[in-house]
Amino acid sequence: MSFDLVFFGGTGDLTWRKLMPALFQAFRHGKLPEGGRILAVARDDRSDEAYREFIHDRFAEVESSKRPSDEEFARFAALLHYRRMDLSHPEDYAGLKEWLDTRGADTVVLYLATSPYLFPVICEQLGAAGLNGPQVRVVLEKPLGHDLASAREINRVVRSVFSERQAFRIDHYLGKPSVQNLMALRFANALFEPLWRRESIANIQITLAESIGVGTRGDFYDKTGALRDMVQNHALQLLTMIAMEPPSTNDADAIRDEKLKVLKSLKPFTPESVARDVLRGQYKAGSVGGQAVPGYLDEVKVPPGSSCETFVALRTEVQNWRWAGVPFYLRTGKRLAARDAQIVINFREVPHPIFPTASLPNKLVIKLQPEDGLELHLMAAKGSGPSDQLSPVQLDLDFDRAFPSERVGAYERLLLDAIAGRLNLFVRSDEQEQAWRWVEPILDAWSRDATGLRTYAAGSWGPAAASALVARDGFAWAEEQ
Ligand code: BG6
Repeated sequence: MSFDLVFFGGTGDLTWRKLMPALFQAFRHGKLPEGGRILAVARDDRSDEAYREFIHDRFAEVESSKRPSDEEFARFAALLHYRRMDLSHPEDYAGLKEWLDTRGADTVVLYLATSPYLFPVICEQLGAAGLNGPQVRVVLEKPLGHDLASAREINRVVRSVFSERQAFRIDHYLGKPSVQNLMALRFANALFEPLWRRESIANIQITLAESIGVGTRGDFYDKTGALRDMVQNHALQLLTMIAMEPPSTNDADAIRDEKLKVLKSLKPFTPESVARDVLRGQYKAGSVGGQAVPGYLDEVKVPPGSSCETFVALRTEVQNWRWAGVPFYLRTGKRLAARDAQIVINFREVPHPIFPTASLPNKLVIKLQPEDGLELHLMAAKGSGPSDQLSPVQLDLDFDRAFPSERVGAYERLLLDAIAGRLNLFVRSDEQEQAWRWVEPILDAWSRDATGLRTYAAGSWGPAAASALVARDGFAWAEEQ
């Protein structure tokens, strides 16, 4: 199958930091279909050769095991091409069409790695130039809008040019191996499904903690905040995969229908429940990994006195028969104690204790990063002390060890799926809009009242009130258990 992959924003950060390294990995693993061309488009003039050099130099910043040797780069670079384009000029799209048509690849993937405010104009121009035939797919990188209205507007324009099956909305968390594994864990094993419900599960915790700060993205981040940056998309996508009903097939729409149902079943927020169940914080100076780091307000490009949240913790419920009354806690933040993304399924206590040692409830930890694995926490008899004395133990599964050399990174997976036309790991417009609909009362409440912002020391687990949010129900976050 021949393909042409076009990156709009071909010299931008996303392209050289994430997409090119991911493509190179796919190439190195022999997973990139033969007969592919990769075209970067951007505003300045450069030759193919100059672009290849640009990418070559950028690869120096990639972690060493993922860097190409000179020989590998020379082979990979043969796929790379460059075209100058002004994204508002119709004739430049006509030129692009001509370039693509001279070869007529089976599949054309147009990846919009630009600022999202350009999405509507690019899509309109692509449509006007006839670059929306059935062989074309468009990949849209987040953020897709900053609220429901803007997301709908982007979707309206995209839909006026492309069919839903041509639109690949990226949430890179869906490309993470452990997230794909959630589907396998739940629907390729009969073991957990009977337990995956309110009768056996006490609460579910989704933590997406980062130890990094906002870095040089202060201006972007300040207009976004943790709720839009991580909760509306990544955290909610994880929640849907945990809470969804078994789809009847592995088809993209069967899966996305079930995910949408979960989003529609989330308990809607009111101003009162926002005040009670949603918490926001901003980091102050502190120390991360033994290194002193500045507070958010002292980061570059952050406006003075900003009340942007860098931390969110919230409690919600999925209002259906399976999950009624089970709290789902979501938490994310920058400059937290560790880079740690995980989902913890806390099971209920044993109904009747017979041992002198108290049994800790079982828990299943789905680890997304830094490691990618599963932990099942059980109680066991140690054998050394009295026979009825129990200790907690855990079964550990490390996917990198279980499948050495076969692991595929998130962007690599998603790029290969976009080329192959597999939509399973991409977000449908109705899911995305429903997620915005759900977070909007939080945004509204915050815009009316900026006083609820708490602070936390960089290197901590967030404001103390985050513990209280969970303790109120008689539970604790994983690191406090
Ligand atoms: C991005 C956010 O979507 O995800 C960033 O915009 C965040 O702010 C990043 O750092 C986290 O991704 P990962 O894969 O490093 O956990």
